[in-house]
Amino acid sequence: MMSNQVTGYLLFSLGTAVIGSLQFGYNTGVINAPEQKLRSFFNATWVERYGQEISPGVCTIVWSVAVSIFSVGGMVGSFSVGVMANRFGRRRSMFLVNCLAVIGGLLMGFSTICSSYEMVIAGRLVIGLFCGLFTGLTPMYVGEVSPTPLRGAFGTLHQLGVVVGILIAQIFGLEALLGSDKLWPLLLSLTVAPAVLQCILLPFCPESPRFLLINLKQEEQARKALVRLRGSEDVSKDLQEMKEESAKMAMEKKVTIPELFRSAAYQQPLLIAVMLQLSQQLSGINAVFYYSTGIFESAGVKKPIYATIGAGIVNTIFTVVSLFLVEKAGRRTLHLLGLGGMAISAVLMTVSLLLKDIPAMSYMAIVAVMLFVAMFELGPGPIPWFIVAELFSQGPRPAAMAVAGCCNWTANFLVGMSFPKLEEVCGPWVFLIFTTFLLLFFIFTFLKVPETRGKTFDEIARSFGSAPPAASSPVEEAPASASTAVKASPVKEKV
Ligand code: GLC
Repeated sequence: MMSNQVTGYLLFSLGTAVIGSLQFGYNTGVINAPEQKLRSFFNATWVERYGQEISPGVCTIVWSVAVSIFSVGGMVGSFSVGVMANRFGRRRSMFLVNCLAVIGGLLMGFSTICSSYEMVIAGRLVIGLFCGLFTGLTPMYVGEVSPTPLRGAFGTLHQLGVVVGILIAQIFGLEALLGSDKLWPLLLSLTVAPAVLQCILLPFCPESPRFLLINLKQEEQARKALVRLRGSEDVSKDLQEMKEESAKMAMEKKVTIPELFRSAAYQQPLLIAVMLQLSQQLSGINAVFYYSTGIFESAGVKKPIYATIGAGIVNTIFTVVSLFLVEKAGRRTLHLLGLGGMAISAVLMTVSLLLKDIPAMSYMAIVAVMLFVAMFELGPGPIPWFIVAELFSQGPRPAAMAVAGCCNWTANFLVGMSFPKLEEVCGPWVFLIFTTFLLLFFIFTFLKVPETRGKTFDEIARSFGSAPPAASSPVEEAPASASTAVKASPVKEKV
């Protein structure tokens, strides 16, 4: 059977989808470097309108809103992903969503010409919506077109796109490149270019064969897409697997978010999906990515911007390491290793901040941050994004991705907003908060998270009892226990 064959066409389709991940990373990282330029622009607009300087307090409010409204957009966008993916399909959704990047990019790009800081804020909101949608659409598409034995490795591509996007933003944001007084609007609006590129490429990619077969019942179309993706006429094994999944799901073709919460059969995988997303964000990773320059400064590092770019490089390297390890070591092991390693690094970071008067400690701070980031990318970075697509079968998958994505963005928002205050209150002890979370999530993963490597979607869903055969017992009768849940039919089809 050729089912794990990697073809150029498969890589082309994955590469096209991953442009969405790159966009998420770019827009996450892009706002940090030009902070001072944006503040001066807010001030200039204020002077022009009101004839006086903006007060430092108001300027900080406008700045924080511009930064954090991105996550608010992300929450809304990620929550809407299920509805879009089911209505328009995976490929067409990605195509349509790119309009948001163009609108958001243009709003930010023309903000100086129009002397309007509101356009920066509105642009960040629209870009957040766009990124929120892509944090669901890309992992979903990638999970659905990848051959089972390589689903983890390809799933990691989403995170690789994210980290490369962050790194590009960090580098382009340097004063000598696009982070200058004149060019920062271009830096922010550059997101339009990959959006246009993706729109040009998407028509050459196939719709997800699973969507064609299971949702639309277009078997011939699904077969054609698979033949091209796998580079072989013999796609019977893939088709068979999808048909089995489809037959079992005849009664749960589309699952809405309330149904997802109501059905006992989905409780266990939903809990795992949400906890893994929380473990990713409450690990404190974005405290580093949003504020690393300040953290390095307080640890006595001389040129913090270069240490920040160094962290971006380590971030990328270890995502590649994870890509090669994930099908060998398994998701569970890597996630545990990552969480444990991050907890140790957070303690090291605390020590270096406490002893910062000893000169060598600034090196220790750099090492600790690099280790923290490296451990994150081994497991907690990539795995939560793609494991949600693995834990659920076709019916509940879009709704589950919406819930999980929304939890991720909410936690991201909370960490981003509260870190500066927590740092003020806890001083050098602040990273111990993350150590505590990391240990709790380590225990949870150890006790509850199953290994999904090499299993088909159907096998995984069955182990939780979330892909029941088409019986007709109502939702409330779905049993809680995974072993007996196979008998239940949690949700009726909604069209
Ligand atoms: C993950 C997180 C994102 C973070 C990034 C860092 O994709 O979801 O919030 O900024 O990793 O690499």
